[in-house]
Amino acid sequence: DGFPATRLFNQGYSYTYDDVIFLPHYIDFPTDAVSLSTKLSRRVALAIPCVSSPMDTVTESSMATAMASLGGIGIVHYNTSTSNQASLIRQAKSHNIPFSYEIIFRSPSDSILSADEFCSAPCIFVTESGSRRSKFLGFVKKSDWDKLDDKEARVSEYMTKSSITLPTSYSFEDVAGYLAKDNTEFVPLARDNGEGVEEIVNLVTGEDVERIKGFPKLGLPSLASDGSFLVGAAVGTRESDKERLEHLVKAGINVVVLDSSQGNSIYQIEMIKHVKNKYPELDVIGGNVVTAYQAQNLIQSGVDGLRVGMGSGSICTTQEVCAVGRGQATAVYKVASIAAASSVPVIADGGISNSGHIVKALTLGASTVMMGSFLAGSNEAPGIYEYQGGRRVKKYRGMGSLEAMTKGSDSRYLGDTAKLKIAQGVVGAVADKGSVLKFIPYTMQAVKQGFQDLGASSLQSANDLLQSGVLRLEVRTGAAQVEGGIHGLVSYEKKSF
Ligand code: XMP
Repeated sequence: DGFPATRLFNQGYSYTYDDVIFLPHYIDFPTDAVSLSTKLSRRVALAIPCVSSPMDTVTESSMATAMASLGGIGIVHYNTSTSNQASLIRQAKSHNIPFSYEIIFRSPSDSILSADEFCSAPCIFVTESGSRRSKFLGFVKKSDWDKLDDKEARVSEYMTKSSITLPTSYSFEDVAGYLAKDNTEFVPLARDNGEGVEEIVNLVTGEDVERIKGFPKLGLPSLASDGSFLVGAAVGTRESDKERLEHLVKAGINVVVLDSSQGNSIYQIEMIKHVKNKYPELDVIGGNVVTAYQAQNLIQSGVDGLRVGMGSGSICTTQEVCAVGRGQATAVYKVASIAAASSVPVIADGGISNSGHIVKALTLGASTVMMGSFLAGSNEAPGIYEYQGGRRVKKYRGMGSLEAMTKGSDSRYLGDTAKLKIAQGVVGAVADKGSVLKFIPYTMQAVKQGFQDLGASSLQSANDLLQSGVLRLEVRTGAAQVEGGIHGLVSYEKKSF
């Protein structure tokens, strides 16, 4: 019944996740017996197979801490200066609390002229010099500032004085206990920078603590050997990226992703060799690739992980613009089949819009999925919510969009030396999804149910069943795809949890 994967994927068609469907197998264990533990790369283990994409509307420090606290990992984008990228990484790694705000600092002699200066934070911190590495003097609450008549007044005239900070070593429970005991709205977390000067690294609010207490718990957080959150970073393959990487390594990254839409290039191979030579302890992930030939080249150069996908992302126009790419289901299956022989884990990058896509990617051989749009509408994604047609949305843009490239991301699309820039992505918006700390645990539960239906209690066993031909699949016709989705209703409300 059905087709074995080897036969289905060797007929000359490019299939994506929605084209294929698995036939159910036999269940002899409960959902909770399914383990989603996996590997991002040869030496980086994760409790859940979720990776946030290195895009400037997806992964900065807040997303990176949240993903690590859930047992996944965030890859901090590099469409910013080296020093800012390093600071985002330091910030993500510097505490044990699964969220962080973009913290804003002012000195007592500054004025706060516009509400925009608060960004999304509930307060602005006041320090002696107006920087994060300076004596903490107090804060200005957004609600207090709103009531202020003279917005040109100096901060010192109306700030709330305080010198209380908590050490970054405090756990979530420690901080929650402090906030509850003193009935405090928020508290800065600070660490000594080694020279006796305090550095403020995070802001925790009582509201966040209450919210998080109500979220379902997942497995173990992703921690490095020093106890800090695992955090990855993306870099390009230019000479200047070698220098960038040096700073990121100092900032403590645990894995580096070489970011390119077509990774099988002389530039990337040279960069892989450089990383392997200079930082033998650091896992390097190459890509993107979609064919066995491309994968083989990077594996031979020594990559520790492969990122798969070309043109499958929700904001991508690479296939339209450049006529290259591959349906994502075929790409993942083909690359993962080759990579498994060398024990190189594969990341299925792009095109994930529901838990079913995750089950498919993992069963087809991916060890993790990398997501952009699935995470971009969350509280933890950079940027602020806006309203469009009555809906609360957040901006989400392709790193190959003209807007992002103007900010510097053009090297990913080899456009940095070209005279004429051609976009390979678009700028858009995605709906508000709330916190990843809430919807990722639910999504993982749905993935476990999918694995249970396949009779697979782990990622490895799902892929083994597929590779051995026990697990069968079929292509869905257009009508079958319509039937497999919600249909025939005049109206409905889609609520998944
Ligand atoms: P999703 O579907 O999760 O895809 O939103 C995220 C992935 O898309 C890739 N990406 C791009 N691809 N043009 C492209 O062709 C772009 O502008 C672009 N920006 C991101 C990237 O691999 C990301 O992880």
